[in-house]
Amino acid sequence: MTQQITLALSKGRIFDETLPLLAAAGIEVLEDPEKSRKLILPTSRPEVRVVLVRATDVPTYVQYGGADIGVAGKDSLIEHGGQGLFRPLDLGIAKCRVSVAVRADFDYAQAVRQGARLKVATKYTSIARDFFATKGVHVDMIKLYGSMELAPLTGLADAIVDLVSTGNTLKANHLVEVEQIMDISSHLVVNQAALKLKQAPLKRIIDAFASAVPQD
Ligand code: PRP
Repeated sequence: MTQQITLALSKGRIFDETLPLLAAAGIEVLEDPEKSRKLILPTSRPEVRVVLVRATDVPTYVQYGGADIGVAGKDSLIEHGGQGLFRPLDLGIAKCRVSVAVRADFDYAQAVRQGARLKVATKYTSIARDFFATKGVHVDMIKLYGSMELAPLTGLADAIVDLVSTGNTLKANHLVEVEQIMDISSHLVVNQAALKLKQAPLKRIIDAFASAVPQD
């Protein structure tokens, strides 16, 4: 009996940059997620399907077995906590960084002196909390789900913690990157039970991805 494999991906850079790795595993996604409203996409291999979920939901889908395997950013993995996930491979794709950014006219050095308080808006509350705790800065955390750049511009927060890739979004909103917290890339994550029950087909995909990951 052929075992069904469900792969969780998010639309955008992760999807686009996973396609060559899938090709190396002999898998072609048969529909373009930018053109279709479908959330389950067939592939050239009848036993493999792709489910499209929000980037932050990939670890959750794989943890609970809604998907057997997935591609998740390190940012999403840290915020999720990583429970129930086997993480065999850093894919080296969708690279960016998590940084602190403020308005150009904001005195960040003064604001983060030991014992100070800072209002921080972010989607990445775990990463931000750990980072400022290490610096000894008290943080009033404001959880947002998107458009973080607006927070310092409207007075909602002093600083944001967000993903930066080209820096264009910060520049367009007159914000400056004042600290880089960590480098981000996407990782392959596998459901721990599926790894045992569907060992052969999953191992084939993991091995093909491993031999195709971009080298620095
Ligand atoms: C991320 C991030 C920034 C932008 C940075 O958003 O939140 O807004 O990319 O990229 P840049 O430095 O190249 O301008 P993303 O497009 O991932 O969508 P999101 O707003 O849903 O997080």
